[in-house]
Amino acid sequence: MLKVALLGCGTVGSQVARILLEDGDSLAARSGARLELAGIAVRSMDAKRDVDLPRELFTDEAEALVDSADLVVELMGGIEPARSLILRAIRKGASVVTGNKALLAQDGPALFEEADRNNAELSFEAAVAGAIPIIRPIRESLSGDRITRVLGIVNGTTNYILDQMDTTGAAFADALAEAQRLGYAEADPTADVEGHDAAAKAALLATLAFHTPVSLDDVRCEGITKVTAEDIAAAKDSGFVIKLLAIAELVRLGDGDGAEGTSVRVHPTLLPREHPLAAVRGAYNAVFVEAENAGQLMFYGAGAGGRPTASAVMGDLVSTARRLVAGAPGRTDTATRRLPMAGVEGIFTSY
Ligand code: NDP
Ligand code: HSE
Repeated sequence: MLKVALLGCGTVGSQVARILLEDGDSLAARSGARLELAGIAVRSMDAKRDVDLPRELFTDEAEALVDSADLVVELMGGIEPARSLILRAIRKGASVVTGNKALLAQDGPALFEEADRNNAELSFEAAVAGAIPIIRPIRESLSGDRITRVLGIVNGTTNYILDQMDTTGAAFADALAEAQRLGYAEADPTADVEGHDAAAKAALLATLAFHTPVSLDDVRCEGITKVTAEDIAAAKDSGFVIKLLAIAELVRLGDGDGAEGTSVRVHPTLLPREHPLAAVRGAYNAVFVEAENAGQLMFYGAGAGGRPTASAVMGDLVSTARRLVAGAPGRTDTATRRLPMAGVEGIFTSY
């Protein structure tokens, strides 16, 4: 039996709790051990939850819960106390699953190092593009190839807003309110609409794809708050659609000796309506990966929301449990070299 501590019971956490309680037998069969939900740490003990869960599972003493667990699932979001609780878990040798891209884009290298030092795993499939398996394909399936470019729609809230404005003529504020109601937006939706959430995901994807540390500060970022109804109508009249794209590329530096750098950016982009990314509707996401030998790959699916994201969390949880049962936690290393960030000038309005 493995004791699971769940930190957070909001949009995603409540669905993870539901799956752990409803699917106990099949999860045990797939993991090789029963995953027992030891407790759920929250801020407010009296808040109404999306899912009906036994009251005795809830606690406001997150540290004590972490100390009692073999596996910790962090779905609180934000930097603190998430960071300290993850470190606390790792230092006592517990493996951690998180969906917290904001934290990983800021402090990922230190957390991964600490995990390796303590023989613990830190998994984060849910941190990028919700239900879409994209971390594992880049980190594992393509680890014998050379990825040259990753490009995609990685924020469900902004894609939902732009899609609603484009197809129904909805106002920005109304579309954002609906995205919040549907559980797509971050606790502070500024992170979505200003592009910071997509930038955090772009930093994680670039780090994994190019084996070089890329942090949020390295990502040139422009969100969708300046995109007007008139911009969208003008794009439509000309056969284009506006999408918020995250783009990470290996680039040749201009010094003539063939040295490589990376360029990582997020910005609204004009796409021809026949472009495959133009067809990504609502809160769906899609990620293109280009690799020297594999060629072009495309990953598509629900990019946000409780149930889809919980699917990615559960995948990490089962995989980690299997390795714990086998007595061989995997390494979490992400970066093996440091590439210069290529300077990128100008406003990007088309692709
Ligand atoms: P919510 O805001 O819905 O839920 C956060 C939960 O964490 C709440 O239950 C809250 O408790 C609890 N919490 C927050 N701060 C504390 C604290 N200091 N102490 C104890 N508990 C705390 O977030 P989401 O479920 O939407 O997101 C969780 C994480 O998953 C974030 O990192 C987010 O970026 C990521 N993510 C979210 C996706 C989505 O579609 N929503 C998709 C992919 C990743 P209380 O309820 O009592 O306030
Ligand atoms: N707020 C995020 C989004 C959640 O809208 O994509 C998924 O990471």
